Order: sequence, then structure tokens, then C-alpha cells
Amino acid sequence: MQFSKRISELPPYLFAEIDKKIAAKKAQGNDVISLGIGDPVEPTPKHIVDKLCEEARNPANHQYPSYYGMPAFRKSIADFYKKRFNVELDPDTEVLPLIGSKEGLAHIYLALCDEGDTALVPDPGYPVYVNGAIIAGVKPHFMPMTSENEFNPDLDSIDADVAKKAKMMWLCYPNNPTSAIAKDGFFENAVEFAKANDVAICHDNPYSEITFDGYKAHSFLETQGAKDVGIEFNSLSKTYNMTGWRIGYAVGNAKILEALGRVKTNVDSGIFNAIQFAGIEALNGPQDSVQEMVNIYQERRDIVVDTLNDIGLKVERPKATVFVWVPVPDGYTSEGFAEHILEKASVVVPPGNAYGPSGEGFIRISLTIKDDRLKEALSRIHDCL
Ligand code: MLT
Repeated sequence: MQFSKRISELPPYLFAEIDKKIAAKKAQGNDVISLGIGDPVEPTPKHIVDKLCEEARNPANHQYPSYYGMPAFRKSIADFYKKRFNVELDPDTEVLPLIGSKEGLAHIYLALCDEGDTALVPDPGYPVYVNGAIIAGVKPHFMPMTSENEFNPDLDSIDADVAKKAKMMWLCYPNNPTSAIAKDGFFENAVEFAKANDVAICHDNPYSEITFDGYKAHSFLETQGAKDVGIEFNSLSKTYNMTGWRIGYAVGNAKILEALGRVKTNVDSGIFNAIQFAGIEALNGPQDSVQEMVNIYQERRDIVVDTLNDIGLKVERPKATVFVWVPVPDGYTSEGFAEHILEKASVVVPPGNAYGPSGEGFIRISLTIKDDRLKEALSRIHDCL
């Protein structure tokens, strides 16, 4: 049997591999604690679940959904963007529902790039940016992010030839995996760069609502000229504890969304209507649960940062996301440290280098776990150091 060249280049998905490690460790009888994937352990708010149940009983919702998403769902996304970011969106042309933003992140390459094209990718970055490129035959060009540049890539340092060749650039703020926020003026620079080099910007914003200490994250589309050059991906997964539901969306430049929609309508058949109704309830219904989750994550963030700083690791207190980006102790590599705490403490974390070469020297800790388990994991890490 012969397989494609791309499949030989495509690594297994990071968290699929981590799931295998967890299963193997559990099979040996260990009590494994995963601080790996950002997957909220708290349930989806009741009013959203109730809406799904009600709509799931309606036979009209059992047929194919509309290809471009229900008009009412697209309008609820536009209303959310108006209310939250003061960004005006035409629900018919500037909003595209997705079966979770992850599929959109992978499919966008097929809309914007040809084989052999270049995409600018933050390093470290969410693995789908690189792996989506591999699937599409696109060459990822890393934009290094380090503590020196506050995990905002230095756009001026991108080689002029690479910039001219690039078709698209990924950005993600608040950032996964580093939890960094966009510096003042960064999005403006990105729009300028995009216009000067004819590069499309894809901003990934699933953590926009999970921010701490009074910080409010921005939409990239708030930036003057952003809609001329780019789109933003967002998701209901983290904001409303809906990772399992697979519902997200892209908003912004109508031409890019038309192209992405054309790819998608040829590949998938949209989101179950009952889930879209639940999505409307999530975006336009009561938002108290969002603040409740933010408070929970902020407390967990403080537990992690304070405990690890007491152990002697120099951990920054992030202003956003459900992750803490932790420098590994002296003498360890990212993978070495992740292996060490898996073996000695049965605690699972992704090594920083899994997100790109500049992630070396870090691990990522997820806050989407109950407090008692989080504390237990931290105490085990302490004991095995
Ligand atoms: C993460 O933990 O980075 C994401 O939740 C993983 C994913 O979306 O697959």
C-alpha cells in the first residue's frame, strides 16, 4: 500500500499522542493527572444544554443544516461581536460558522494557499498552524517568540524575500501556548505588514473571554484596516465549556470567508442545527457563567504560579487563557522534564518544544482541572524535584 508524501511528513496530533501516554500509564495502575489539554472540566451552562435538548427533539433539526450556518446563528455571532468588541459584521458575508474552529484553521490553507507557498507561523504556536500547512503542502516559516519579545513576533525581522513570498500569517492573542497578550500597537503593525506584503492575516482568538486582573482582550478586527486583510477565528469551546460540541466560527474579510466556505461546503455539511440553536443561546443568553469560569481560572492560575515560584521556577502570572507557560528547571529539556514528571509523579504536561523549536525550555500547564487535582499534581511535581 502506498501513502501520500504528506502523511509521512505529518506528525500525529499532539494531544492524540498524549491521550495514548495517559492510557498506557493508567493501564499500569497509576493515578494519572493530566494538566495537558485545555478542556474545561466544568459542564456547559444549563440553559445552553436545555436549549440543545429542546431543539434536538424537533424533527426539522434532524435534516441537513444549511451549508453556511443558520442565519440566526450567524446573526448571533455578529451581535456578539458588536456588543463585545464594537465590531460591525454583515452576518451574510462576514460570518462563517465552523465545526469547531480547529477545522477552519486547517481548511483555510486550502482557500488561501497553493502547494509550495509559504505561511508565517508563530513559534511556539498551536500545532494545527504547522500541521495544517503540511496537509496543504505549504511551507511554514517560523516567527520566533521569546520572553525577550514578550512572545509577540518581531515582524521587522522577517526577511524581506520571505515576507514577499508569504501568502498568510497566523497570530493568536491571548496566546496559546504562552498565554501572552498582544502588545499595544502589535495588531496595527500586523495590518501594515499585511498590506505592504500582500499577506492575509488569520487571527486565532479562542481565549478572548478568559482574561484576568481586569484585562480585556481585543478582537483583531477592532484594528483599523483589519477586515481588508484578514479574518479572525473564534470558538464557543473555552468561553462556554463546549469543547465537545464542536462549534466555532470565522469572521472578517468577506472574500476570504467566501473561499473558506467554498472549501468547507465541498468537504462537510455544516453544524447540527440543534447545536447552532444552543450556540445562539450561549452567545446571546446570560453571560454570568463566563465570569464565574474566569474567576475559577484566575484562582487556579494563582495556585499554579505561587506554588511553582515557591519551588524556585520563575513563572510569569499570565493575564489570559487557561494555560501557564512554565520554564523547566535547570538541567532539563522540555521533553526530559515532561517525561520526568510523567514517570515520577504520573502528571501529564505537553513539552514546550511540541509547539515549535522556540518552545524548548518550557512546559505548558492547563488550568482546566478541579482545584484538588491541580493541587495534588503540583504537590507531586514538588516532591519529584
Ligand atoms: C489546547 O489545549 O491547546 C487545545 O484545547 C487543544 C485542541 O484544541 O486540540
